[in-house]
Amino acid sequence: MIAKPLLQKLAKKHGSPLFVIDHDELRKNYRQFRKYLPRVQVYFAVKANSDPAIVRTLFKEGSSFDVASMPEFMIVHENIKNLPAKQRQDWIWDKIIYANPTKPVETLEELNQYKPLVTFDNFEEINKIKRHAPNAGLVLRLQVPNTGAMVELSSKFGAAPGEAVDMILAADKAGLVVEGISFHVGSQTTNFQNYVQALSLTAGIFKEAQDRGYTKMNLVDIGGGFPAPYDATVRPFRELAKVINTEVERLFPKNIQILAEPGRFLVASAGYAVSKVIGKAVRGGKKCYYINDGVYHTYSGVIFDHCKYPIKAFKKGPTEICSVFGPTCDALDVVSMAENLPDLERDDFVYSENIGAYSHASATYFNGFPPATVVHVNQ
Ligand SMILES: Cc1ncc(COP(=O)(O)O)c(C=O)c1O
Repeated sequence: MIAKPLLQKLAKKHGSPLFVIDHDELRKNYRQFRKYLPRVQVYFAVKANSDPAIVRTLFKEGSSFDVASMPEFMIVHENIKNLPAKQRQDWIWDKIIYANPTKPVETLEELNQYKPLVTFDNFEEINKIKRHAPNAGLVLRLQVPNTGAMVELSSKFGAAPGEAVDMILAADKAGLVVEGISFHVGSQTTNFQNYVQALSLTAGIFKEAQDRGYTKMNLVDIGGGFPAPYDATVRPFRELAKVINTEVERLFPKNIQILAEPGRFLVASAGYAVSKVIGKAVRGGKKCYYINDGVYHTYSGVIFDHCKYPIKAFKKGPTEICSVFGPTCDALDVVSMAENLPDLERDDFVYSENIGAYSHASATYFNGFPPATVVHVNQ
């Protein structure tokens, strides 16, 4: 947790908009995950925040990685390039999963030399992998309920449970090896039953595959979705971990490797945004503040991640409901229509906490405004 005076000091020193990443918090989140889910290997979902310094810190903690594009793969690869070739190859096989079920042919061709594990969820992808990345190991992405998740993924990804074993057998027939099954219960899942149902569906597919003669699966990837503590309604992680542990122990023997791809859980609480008021107006009797960060930049999660980030002032004083707008000329650039803020002046700083995931990662240069400057603390 970064104290308010330090945030202000950093903004004075480096200017704004500023995006601050606290590496102590990254380590704390990683260790908490490992403590409560000791059987589960962490594959950090790089997409949540692909800053190389985050990858380095989690790498040192012992994390593995989930990547979704060739550039993300190379960010992780950069950390291991000094390992001897054989060790590097083992590391890639064991510690990176390319978890984007649909991959461009060019990517498969480039990936093939690294012999990675990749996910798939349709027959067309099997043909592509066979032709362009025959060295890859496969993991079937299963469609599972995403009920109540903040970000729904099941309409875009996942083989229907009824088709899953047919797909596994088709991959086998094509000479590929399916190592296991993955799923994603939806991002920021506060409905723990999603994990229970997904694990039960996965166990069913394991059994059916075995009954139909396929016995090579040895891993279950329980995906992401672990909720960040955005507010008091999010129940403690240890409660979710207890539910998952019980189901995993009940359904999967010890020789089945369990992995997970947490993104948000590891990085959300490690990120802070600091911006400043660049203008103010009164519209319909309501105060409107214009700040130098917005939804095309660090607050991109307002649009893409369906997430809200309360705006807080460093200044004290009586508050009223205000609007907060970003700096671009697009009317979509609305950070919030209802923030409780004291009377602010031009150049006053404001900040948001818990903004480390899916924020700076999807910032653009729209209107010529560059993404916020990044500062790392406790690295
Ligand atoms: C395949 C996959 N794995 C992991 C994640 C990370 O999810 P979360 O940030 O909810 O943990 C995502 C997010 O979209 C994903 O698509």
